[in-house]
Amino acid sequence: MRSKTHVQLVGQSPAMAALQQEVDRVARSDAKVLITGESGVGKEIVAKSIHARGPRASNIFAPVNCAGLPETLLESELFGHVKGSFTGAYRDKPGKLEMAHMGTTFLDEVGEMTLRMQGLLLRFLETGEIQKVGSEGAGRNLNVRVIAATNRDLRDMIKLGTFREDLFYRLNVIHIVVPPLRERREDIPLLVAEFLETFLGQNRSSITSVSPEAIKVLTEYTWPGNVRELENVMERLVVTAPGPTIEVEHLSSEIRVQDRVALRPKRERRRTVADDLYKRMIDQRESFWSTVYPLFMDREITRANVREVVRRGLEEARGNYKIVARLFNMESRDYKRFLNFLRKHDCQIPFKDYR
Ligand SMILES: Nc1ncnc2c1ncn2[C@@H]1O[C@H](COP(=O)(O)OP(=O)(O)O)[C@@H](O)[C@H]1O
Ligand SMILES: [Mg+2]
Repeated sequence: MRSKTHVQLVGQSPAMAALQQEVDRVARSDAKVLITGESGVGKEIVAKSIHARGPRASNIFAPVNCAGLPETLLESELFGHVKGSFTGAYRDKPGKLEMAHMGTTFLDEVGEMTLRMQGLLLRFLETGEIQKVGSEGAGRNLNVRVIAATNRDLRDMIKLGTFREDLFYRLNVIHIVVPPLRERREDIPLLVAEFLETFLGQNRSSITSVSPEAIKVLTEYTWPGNVRELENVMERLVVTAPGPTIEVEHLSSEIRVQDRVALRPKRERRRTVADDLYKRMIDQRESFWSTVYPLFMDREITRANVREVVRRGLEEARGNYKIVARLFNMESRDYKRFLNFLRKHDCQIPFKDYR
């Protein structure tokens, strides 16, 4: 695991400069903030910066991942529980909201909350009171700043009935959008330098620099996994590149090949094969086996197309291949066959970058 967390928001692109100003402005108030943007763009680090630059900085910043836990555990994580309230509750435990009293709670992936949890959260936001799991008495009144984040389109979810509109308006007092890395490529060299320094500090490595050509290729890559993907790439390079300089040939073929696609004019890229296939599966509910699979087997589409489709699925499914299989309208018994297919044709993408 990484020991250093960047509380320093790196970036000087116009988009990041505007974001820095917004963070400063927002930090002074107590207003709720909703941060949106693709996975890995830096939503959490923006939330941390808002906390760190405001009057609550000396108190706790308590992040809660609303996607990672089953509902009952999430409820206890947020609100706490009393001893004996469920098997394994050996003692009273404060929730993250209570721990963040006078500080900030960060509700990550808030779009993944069940409707029941959304109701409990809304009640807390309206009253400021928490009700611990298993407790009968009146809840404790708290002073917590709430910052939430999601990579989902909550307005779409409201239309679908999977996100409560009243909760949305509670959370969305201030809306901050963190743009994807490919829309602020000027920041890439700065981030490369920052991550190089971080990982050199953590590893024995003979690397001392990155060649200008390699930086150029890194800058032109599309970074579907955004800053998190770049961070992971730099960590790998520090460990694996022979040194002293990271050169273009040390970069993975994906990064080197993708950049040619990225260099094509925007208009030409607007609709790609992967776009169409992905849309057919998601919108038309066609199966992977009747769309991507036959086209690939007949060599109508390339491995890169398949990988792009899978990458999108992983992004949507936050790195969970089982969910990707469901998104692609496969039967659950086809899961193994799906993984075997990907492995056999070298289309399996590391899921960790999307977690
Ligand atoms: N502007 C930035 N400067 C420095 N590090 C960043 C920046 N944006 C993102 N990171 C790093 O990239 C990784 C992913 O960021 P994170 O905030 O977790 O993204 P998200 O919450 O949007 O998925 C983290 O390790 C974070 O520290
Ligand atoms: Mg995150």
